[in-house]
Amino acid sequence: MRLHVVTFGCQMSVADGEELAAPLQGRGFTAVAEPETADAIILNTCTVRQHAEDKALSLIGRLRGWKEKDPERVLIVAGCAAERLGPWISKRFPYVDLVVGAKSIEDYPKIVEEALGARFDALAETGQTFKGESRSVDHPTGWMSPFSAFVTIMRGCNYSCSYCIVPAVRGRELYRSWETILAEVSAKTALGVKEITLLGQTVNSWHALDGKRQVRFPELLTRLGKIDSLERLRFESPHPHFVDDDLIQAMATTKNVCEQLHLPIQSGSDRLLKIMRRNYDSEGIIEKTNRLRAAIPRVEVSTDIIVGFPSETDDDFTRTLDLVRRLRPSWSYTFKYSPREGTESAGMEDDVPDEVKEERLRRLNELCDALTEDALSKRIGKVVEVLDEQGGFGRTRDGFKVAWREPGPPGRTVKVRITGTSKRVLKGERDERA
Ligand code: 5AD
Ligand code: SF4
Repeated sequence: MRLHVVTFGCQMSVADGEELAAPLQGRGFTAVAEPETADAIILNTCTVRQHAEDKALSLIGRLRGWKEKDPERVLIVAGCAAERLGPWISKRFPYVDLVVGAKSIEDYPKIVEEALGARFDALAETGQTFKGESRSVDHPTGWMSPFSAFVTIMRGCNYSCSYCIVPAVRGRELYRSWETILAEVSAKTALGVKEITLLGQTVNSWHALDGKRQVRFPELLTRLGKIDSLERLRFESPHPHFVDDDLIQAMATTKNVCEQLHLPIQSGSDRLLKIMRRNYDSEGIIEKTNRLRAAIPRVEVSTDIIVGFPSETDDDFTRTLDLVRRLRPSWSYTFKYSPREGTESAGMEDDVPDEVKEERLRRLNELCDALTEDALSKRIGKVVEVLDEQGGFGRTRDGFKVAWREPGPPGRTVKVRITGTSKRVLKGERDERA
């Protein structure tokens, strides 16, 4: 039995895709890259912007033929758009077997069990895979990459950024316990994983009790830093509010924490940041980044930016460009504002004309691309440390993709001398002397 997983959206969504696949793997399904030959398809949707949602809905439509070819096939639609539009999806696409919203992911193994019942008999032998804590630690790490894995440490979001639908579709913050995180990280490293990315919508707001003691996110990093076989530790996606001195200190002193921080600024206009309810201003971002760079000189910062938020003026946009110039992100994810039904900003007039949004996005991308190119070209001639994820392809600790000739067996950390760049990937050769 073959399973195909399609995921739209963020890294959380990718990690959820693994979790959604686990119960079916427990029933004996194996992964296939092509949908045509699959017996089951899981479509893990995103709703953060209209465009992402439209892509998922259009794919559900296109899968009708696949399903009709063999009604025994199973089509599961999950994730954030499924949470937002669940009943509508079931009605509009009656051939979908199961619609499971993002908030139900903890109960999902039970839901699948009930929905599939006795179909796919392998269940009888492997039922234990999806009992107990819903997150199974024993599914093959090769699902995404054998050497780099995600570990979800919290779900949901307690903020109310005025443009964002995430709190509505993912709910309030829920934190995994320190013990289960440690168990999962240890299980994954025992299976050969060298790099773990801790995931959460606002990952650095994580906290939990250890006995009677409150453990906060910076301490989680230092504790996981003690696992010797864990070569690299990353985390996504932090909220700027929790980027404080404790976190900077933990990053600076924990040797396996990579020199990379995602700091989503969204805008450089303090007026807009207030309306967005972001709880920081542009000077605060610069102050934090200065402290971070003073403590970790090699650190690279990436960011998310929205253009065309309601009422955004040329002056607001110029301030965004100014903040980006001061922040110097090596990587940027830029978006045109997309009103999401039910969010606070959806009640504001979407008054920036689309052509103005497009033009601002173009100018912003020009600046961000130049900063990325600059960061990439600074590596030329240097020797960088890369975790070989796929035999000749991997990433540096500070987040750049690298491809090199003469690959050895994957899974090792190697030194590569950078000779050039192509399509935002560093190119190089193994450096045997290093
Ligand atoms: N419109 C455009 N971009 C958005 N994002 C979140 N909501 C919206 C929206 N309504 C962007 C933010 C966030 C990233 C994941 O998606 O930049 O950090
Ligand atoms: Fe959305 Fe803001 Fe929460 Fe991030 S912090 S998930 S942007 S509400």
